[in-house]
Amino acid sequence: MNKKLFIFDLDGVIVDTAKYHFLAWQNIASELNIDFTIEQNELLKGVNRENSLLKILEFENKSIDPSLFNSLLIKKNNIYLRYVEKINSSDVIDGIKNSIDYIKKHKHHLALGSASKNAQMILRKLELFECFDIIIDGTITEKAKPNPEVFLRSMNRLKVKSEDCIVFEDSISGITAANTAGMISIGIGNKDVLSNANHNFSKFNLITNQFLSHL
Ligand code: BG6
Ligand code: MG
Repeated sequence: MNKKLFIFDLDGVIVDTAKYHFLAWQNIASELNIDFTIEQNELLKGVNRENSLLKILEFENKSIDPSLFNSLLIKKNNIYLRYVEKINSSDVIDGIKNSIDYIKKHKHHLALGSASKNAQMILRKLELFECFDIIIDGTITEKAKPNPEVFLRSMNRLKVKSEDCIVFEDSISGITAANTAGMISIGIGNKDVLSNANHNFSKFNLITNQFLSHL
């Protein structure tokens, strides 16, 4: 059997930080007098910091000057960092450690593919940093999801074929990126939202070793 490459998104897949990104953006949106809904937030998941603020502004056809734009990015991140300050290994989502054990036991590759510039810090807090063969995050990538760059980089570095890559994602943009890369996409969350995924699970802990072995 070919060695597979399992690529995990971070926020909303490994740890429930997607809710903190949402709360932080809500804070910024209210400062701009923009009503930012949970439905609109689905379109921000997986999207990098800069593009997220652009999208929030687009929702209301607003534009702001570059210095305010940059200061709001810093402010959003500071709010977010306060939320994640106390996370630790107990915050790893159920089922993640079991899947990582399975992947390691069968000597497959394991990668992180995240848009976040905070990814390495969060992985350290979760005590998962050492597990990954390769970490591709928002500090390395030039093109944000739904561009597949974040996933293609680990595939190319580990010399795996796209059909042997499996991507776990909670975002529409991430599933699109995986599909564009020709990889197997697994949507974690609401099936109706992630309808473009090859497989769907409402929660990560519903993924069994048997399912992984059939991929
Ligand atoms: C993604 C999140 O993982 O990272 C997005 O789904 C977030 O909501 C993006 O905007 C960038 O994260 P950060 O930590 O660099 O602001
Ligand atoms: Mg995510």
